[in-house]
Amino acid sequence: MDMRATPTPSLTLTAVLDSCWALLAEGQRLRHSPFHQGVLATSAARGPTARYVVMRQVDRERGVLGFHTDRRSEKWGELERDPRVSLCFFGQSVQIRAEGRATRHTDDAVADLAWKRTGLMSRRCYLASPAPGTGVEQAASGLPQHLSTQRPNESESAAGRANFAVVTVQLQRIEWLHLAFDGHRRARFSRAGNSPWSGQWLVP
Ligand SMILES: Cc1cc2nc3c(=O)[nH]c(=O)nc-3n(C[C@H](O)[C@H](O)[C@H](O)COP(=O)(O)O)c2cc1C
Repeated sequence: MDMRATPTPSLTLTAVLDSCWALLAEGQRLRHSPFHQGVLATSAARGPTARYVVMRQVDRERGVLGFHTDRRSEKWGELERDPRVSLCFFGQSVQIRAEGRATRHTDDAVADLAWKRTGLMSRRCYLASPAPGTGVEQAASGLPQHLSTQRPNESESAAGRANFAVVTVQLQRIEWLHLAFDGHRRARFSRAGNSPWSGQWLVP
């Protein structure tokens, strides 16, 4: 018997895909889940660049993940030039890599609904001036002074709507890696368009 490749017949690809979506859904629901935020990689003109974003939408039915951002941010322009993205998560001994194409939402129903559901403290992020990424003389939040320690009221927060945006990512590939003492396990799932996910075991 080849001892280098001990199979785990009880583990199925279906169960693994289910667990990926369950972890992602938990991340969207629970602020303290390690899957609440993922590292988003995009292509900048200078090369690849990565940063954390918070998962605000996890839709298994449509194969979509979504996050909120400021349309004045650098990633916004990067996504316009190249909508292909990769998201990476790690927790509970599991790494999930999710790849797909980003769609940017600003003045549509998706962004309107997300804005409506965004709390005042989160809306505050979109009130920064000058724009995120602008160089400044001293360390500064960019927020109006009176909002440095408090949330804006509803009407103050409204100015942030112009900067607020949603990015949805239509996934085309999900990769799962489980770290374990008795040897890691790895699987990849891919789909074309809206076709069913097709999975394959990989050597880690
Ligand atoms: C835990 C964590 C969560 C974050 N969530 C978001 C987010 O949901 N959306 C966002 O635009 N930036 C988020 N940020 C800030 C980004 O990582 C990044 O610094 C900022 O958006 C500027 O990125 P850019 O210049 O590449 O556009 C988060 C940062 C951390 C550390």
